[in-house]
Amino acid sequence: MVWHLPRGFPTPAVPPDNPMSGAKVALGERCSSSAACSVTGQYSCASCHEPAHSFARIGPVAIGATGGAPAANAMALVNVAYNISFGWMRPRVRSLEAQMLEPMLNEHPVELGLRAARPPCCAQLAVDRAYADDFAAAFPGDPAPVNLRA
Ligand code: HEC
Repeated sequence: MVWHLPRGFPTPAVPPDNPMSGAKVALGERCSSSAACSVTGQYSCASCHEPAHSFARIGPVAIGATGGAPAANAMALVNVAYNISFGWMRPRVRSLEAQMLEPMLNEHPVELGLRAARPPCCAQLAVDRAYADDFAAAFPGDPAPVNLRA
C-alpha cells in the first residue's frame, strides 16, 4: 500500500490485524456513499459526513436514517487516521474499526439502523456480483468476506 501524503506528514498507524490495501481503500470509499447498507436503503455514511464539506454535516445536528437526531453533529473526517480517540462523547473508542460500528448499529437514535437489518444487508451485498468481488479482493482468503462480526 502506497500512501500519498503531503511532505512532513507521518504515516498513520495501522492496526496489525487490519493491514491497509488499495482494495480496502476503494471498497471503503464505495461503501461510505452506498445506500445499500442502511435500514431504509436510502442512507449512507456520506448522508451525515458530506464529502463536499470535509466529510462534516452542515447544520446543527446530524439526522439518522429514520429521522432521529444524535446528540451531536457529524464532525469532519479529514485526517481522522491520526486520531487517538474518536467521537465527541465516547473517548473509549480507540480505533476506526470500533468507531464505524456505532453509526451502523446504534439504536438511540438510529443512524444507519443495521442492528436488526445486518443479516439481510450482508446477504444482499454477498449476492451483488460487484460488491462480492470487491469484498473478496479486500479480504483475500476470507471464506465469507461480506460480514459484520460485532
Ligand atoms: C446519523 C448521522 C451519521 C451517520 C449516518 C454516520 N455518522 Fe459518523 N458521526 C456522526 C456523529 C454525530 C459523530 C460524533 C459521534 C460521537 O461523538 O460519539 C460521528 C463521528 C464519526 C467519526 C469520529 C470522527 C472523529 O474525529 O472523532 C468517524 C470516524 C465516523 N463518524 C465515521 C462514520 C462512518 C464510517 C460512517 C458509516 C459507516 C458514519 N460515520 C455514519 C454521525 C453520523
